[in-house]
Amino acid sequence: MKIFVTGCCGYIGSHTCVELLEKGYEVIGLDNFSNSKRSVLDRIKQITNKEIKFYEGDMLDRNMLKKIFTENDIDMVIDFAAYKAVGDSVKKPVEYYTNNVSSVLTLLSVMQEYNVKSLVFSSSATVYGVPKIVPITEEAEIGGTTNPYGTSKLYVEGILKDLCISDPEFKICVFRYFNPVGAHQSGLIGEDPNGIPANLMPFISKVATGELECLSVFGNDYDTKDGTGVRDYIHIVDLAKAHISGVEKLNNSDGGLLIYNLGTGVGYSVLEMIKAFERVNNVKVNYKIAPRREGDIAECFADSTKANKELNWKAELGLDEMCRDAYNFSLKKY
Ligand code: WQD
Repeated sequence: MKIFVTGCCGYIGSHTCVELLEKGYEVIGLDNFSNSKRSVLDRIKQITNKEIKFYEGDMLDRNMLKKIFTENDIDMVIDFAAYKAVGDSVKKPVEYYTNNVSSVLTLLSVMQEYNVKSLVFSSSATVYGVPKIVPITEEAEIGGTTNPYGTSKLYVEGILKDLCISDPEFKICVFRYFNPVGAHQSGLIGEDPNGIPANLMPFISKVATGELECLSVFGNDYDTKDGTGVRDYIHIVDLAKAHISGVEKLNNSDGGLLIYNLGTGVGYSVLEMIKAFERVNNVKVNYKIAPRREGDIAECFADSTKANKELNWKAELGLDEMCRDAYNFSLKKY
């Protein structure tokens, strides 16, 4: 079975490609290296001893997508390619909507042209906006998003819903990620954003290694257990394995839209993350309390029982492994 993975060199994309290759799937990959590195391809090969058929390019480039679909008999698409930094999206809404929404419309149009009707889509817990109840189930109201990143994912979910209504042959699995962290146990791939990390764990890792001086904790006056933001952190390898379950679910589906939360069901605060990271890795993480970040919410964690039941998938790795593996990756220099 041939699976086309957009954003294959990115954080979630690369870890999912490892799991796909190890399960025997053929992977065709696309990446524009806007937030990833070409060297990831070699390291995926080091881990799996298999290669991705790789194309460098952008999802907005219709001709590139048509070339890929012409040259490969694609059975399914997993779409990871997107910008994902909450704070950055508040500053650059047009770039986020162009990259995260227009690119998906281009992809869907080419999929229809080539009669490819199976898609796994990367959505986000940010589509829930400010959750009224935690833990959050898939039945919770979506909308009221607090930043263009989350709104871009909300828009695409609406597009996918309308597509499934218009063409019942489409089989679509939407994963609402909570907070993916950590790295492959080999330390060969991990979260390696270009520039200063927007997300918490890679920033903590770079402070621990001395690459960055001090972590700013964005607000300690939220209505949470210790005043800092609470999130549902999930090990990237658990998240990648869920995509294998999603692929298998679609293979046995007659069509329609499936939506799953991918989290652990446990919420940790920023201060708890710092303390766990220091304990597990026996390091010091310098931090200071800073003002809240525009677009942030106080608390967000998942009820993932629907994925547990319907996908026979459950997060297995805990906070210690998340901190250990994230630090192990950050000690490598690629
Ligand atoms: C986590 C907590 C911050 C950085 C993002 C995006 C999206 C999603 C998950 C896929 C918050 C605090 C952070 C820092 C801090 N992935 N923080 N100092 O914003 O919850 O979600 O990741 O959809 O990428 O929605 O993740 O890691 O940025 O923030 O205090 O330097 O850490 O305020 O409470 P976020 P994050």
